[in-house]
Amino acid sequence: MGIKIAILGAAGLRTPLILQAILLRQARLNLRELALMDIDGQRLEVIAALTAPLEAANPPRFHIQRTTDVEVALQGADFVITTFRVGGMTARAIDERVPLNYGVLGQETTGPGGFAMGMRTIPVLLAVAEKMKSLCPQAWLINFANPAGMLAEALVRVSGWQRSVGICDAPHTLRRALAALLNAPAEQVLLDYFGLNHLGWIRAVRFQGADHLPRFLEWIRQLDQVPGMPISATLIATLGMIPNEYLYYYYHTHQAVENILQAGLSRGEQLAAWNERLFAELADLRAKEDYEGMQSAYQAYLKQRGQTYMVNESGQAHNLEQIDAALAESLSSEGYAGVALDLIEGLGGDGPRQMILNIPNQGAIQGMGAEDVVEIAAFVSGGAIQPLSVGSIPQHCLGLMQQVKAYEQLTIEAAVEGSYAKALTALTLHPLVPGFEVAKQILDEYIQRHGDLFPPLR
Ligand code: G6P
Ligand code: MN
Repeated sequence: MGIKIAILGAAGLRTPLILQAILLRQARLNLRELALMDIDGQRLEVIAALTAPLEAANPPRFHIQRTTDVEVALQGADFVITTFRVGGMTARAIDERVPLNYGVLGQETTGPGGFAMGMRTIPVLLAVAEKMKSLCPQAWLINFANPAGMLAEALVRVSGWQRSVGICDAPHTLRRALAALLNAPAEQVLLDYFGLNHLGWIRAVRFQGADHLPRFLEWIRQLDQVPGMPISATLIATLGMIPNEYLYYYYHTHQAVENILQAGLSRGEQLAAWNERLFAELADLRAKEDYEGMQSAYQAYLKQRGQTYMVNESGQAHNLEQIDAALAESLSSEGYAGVALDLIEGLGGDGPRQMILNIPNQGAIQGMGAEDVVEIAAFVSGGAIQPLSVGSIPQHCLGLMQQVKAYEQLTIEAAVEGSYAKALTALTLHPLVPGFEVAKQILDEYIQRHGDLFPPLR
């Protein structure tokens, strides 16, 4: 029999990495069919030309279907992976530029950028969940699309889709890095982790019965700057926890905005330009049937993207390859794809394994609602996800999480109800927005510049 996986948004530049990871694990995955769906059929073909060598080197023992029809892709799927970017990289550039015009952080997920991305993506994702109800009612929905936490919340609150999980590579990369520093296999290192997506903290690093966090903090106390971590070493030592790198935008807001303004362009603007150039280059090489040239252009792009991640924003190298070759080597290169496939294998009965996922709190964190989606450690095994109990957390973490959760919920309601007032309230109470007047200017500029990509707001 075997399973069917559907990937929606499969013309994205990470698809070759997903396919590669699937092919490497195909003996374990027991895959019958892989549907690669995207609304952009031409780009789907370009990506197919990029993955052809992978398929030749490691022939798939499953059927690959490429389609622009979402219903064809969903039909009979066991796992649906959503990874689309509504409006493409151009829309991300707008998400990030508009707040910068008012001196406010312009970032893909944190701050107003995440609000705008959420507004564009929520209606599309909820429509997918609606279709799944008849086409694949038993399927798990694994969402990569950002803002991953807010989208997971929308799926639970609005669609009531219980078998949905939001994933992010950041906590898993952190876990691998810590495991590498301990010389331990990542699967054996258990993190006591809590928060929201891109807003989490590590409170303990357990390996062989001991908590190694105090040792890490001891090391951090002696540094000016922790390699690969944009947040001040002094602050980390004071917190007594290792924060998710995205907390940089909350703990060093002024610095982040200054750095981005100084760089002259946001990450989305940088990537929009690179993507445009890459796709032009790929089309050109494909016309010449230069498939090796396509590969090298793609690999060079990935390398450049990896090496520049968070560099302008933080003013320091973030890529581990640049910091420590040995550490980089020991980290898996599977990234996002690895997290999704670990989850699929775990749900398929291989386990139990610990993963950090965006799932309903169900009492895990004291002070957060039962249905509030949080990012926490959970055990995944045959068809079930069991969140680990977190208990009480520092008040400053809980306060920030609750504030951001309130903003997320208002954004979801604004998108679903088409409410201008709720959208404005959501932005006004975001901790990184300096109040009502600026919130209104940002919102109005988004509405004007995003046009039909935004749900109509009354
Ligand atoms: C990390 C985050 C993702 C985010 C990505 C941005 O992987 O976990 O949520 O989308 O970075 O990387 P980019 O190269 O697009 O700036
Ligand atoms: Mn993420």
